Amino acid sequence: GKAGYDWFMLKEIDEQPQAVADTLLGRLGNRGEIVLDEVRISDEDLRGITKIFVIACGTAYHAGLIAKYAIEHWTRIPVEVELASEFRYRDPVLDRSTLVVVISQSGETMDTLMALRHAKEQQARVLAICNANGSTIPRESDAVLYTRAGPEVAVASTKGFLTQVVACYLVGLFLAQVRGLKYEDEVAAVVAELRKLPDQVREVLAGMDEVRELGRSLATESTLLFLGRHVGYPVALEGALKLKELAYIHAEGFAAGELKHGSIALIGDGTPVVVIAPSPHGRESLHGKVVSNIQEVRARGARTIVIAEEGDDDVLPYADHVIRVPRTPTLLAPVVTTVPLQILACEIADTRGLDVDMPRNLAKSVTVE
Ligand code: M6R
Repeated sequence: GKAGYDWFMLKEIDEQPQAVADTLLGRLGNRGEIVLDEVRISDEDLRGITKIFVIACGTAYHAGLIAKYAIEHWTRIPVEVELASEFRYRDPVLDRSTLVVVISQSGETMDTLMALRHAKEQQARVLAICNANGSTIPRESDAVLYTRAGPEVAVASTKGFLTQVVACYLVGLFLAQVRGLKYEDEVAAVVAELRKLPDQVREVLAGMDEVRELGRSLATESTLLFLGRHVGYPVALEGALKLKELAYIHAEGFAAGELKHGSIALIGDGTPVVVIAPSPHGRESLHGKVVSNIQEVRARGARTIVIAEEGDDDVLPYADHVIRVPRTPTLLAPVVTTVPLQILACEIADTRGLDVDMPRNLAKSVTVE
């Protein structure tokens, strides 16, 4: 049951610290190494990989977009991320030295399954990142990394997504380890940071009352825009998807650098714009660019809602609302920055009197095309 929560979605949002801890359980070794015994692809084959495709649908695709930033940075292997429904109907270039990572919470999504079969026909190795034990996608894959999020009932994916992102980090770090690390110190440091994530998600959840209040104030809006750069860009897409599917409000996520190429024309007086600001301790230029983007949209009338790291005061002059998240390395930030966006969408939908767990026209697993 819902264990006292109004919605399964709220329950599942609250389960995220535990879900992330479970994804990591037993997979981080004492010496800061990654232990993935279940990835039964030989070290030799893993060393021979020349290209990675990450394939998924919906929210899982957003996890894949985040994976690209992390895996390319840690392994220097080129990564392409593609929607399963596109991949399966084109003629992608892959062979036995290609690793295909398919991501699916349910393990039953038809397009993802068909993309997997397509990849196997071309002799690629397939690694599934999946939540549902024994479902079709892991059964047909060469190896599976289970996310262990527990059952996800709400149609909108929350703990499913967060644990997919964490599983992608594990895959990236594992590949780096097997192949000989390029950024050895950095990877060891990342492992230490991964261990902190469950508590950091807990910390974000503890401060969500203001986000709920903000959600109530946004319930009558007709459009919300989400902006981010780097891993903040997939987070923006994810925030927009949550809002569309739950609140039936027009929402779009943009790469902040694309604003000038068209989208900025959408911004008028009072348009709510949610911006995911990167850590000021990461790449300085990245942070500075996003701060100027906030300034730009504000100057055109936007009501700015900024998700920013604790202590990042650079955003204050241009933010109408600030939502704080704990300090993480840039690549891991999506695990904390996504959480307020889930709450925001949930609260807006609830205020609009909608069924948060079962949005119209949607099914939990899409087993038809
Ligand atoms: O079970 P899957 O991860 O393969 O599902 C993929 C999408 O259908 C799913 O993530 C969908 O986008 C969610 N409803 C989003 O919240």
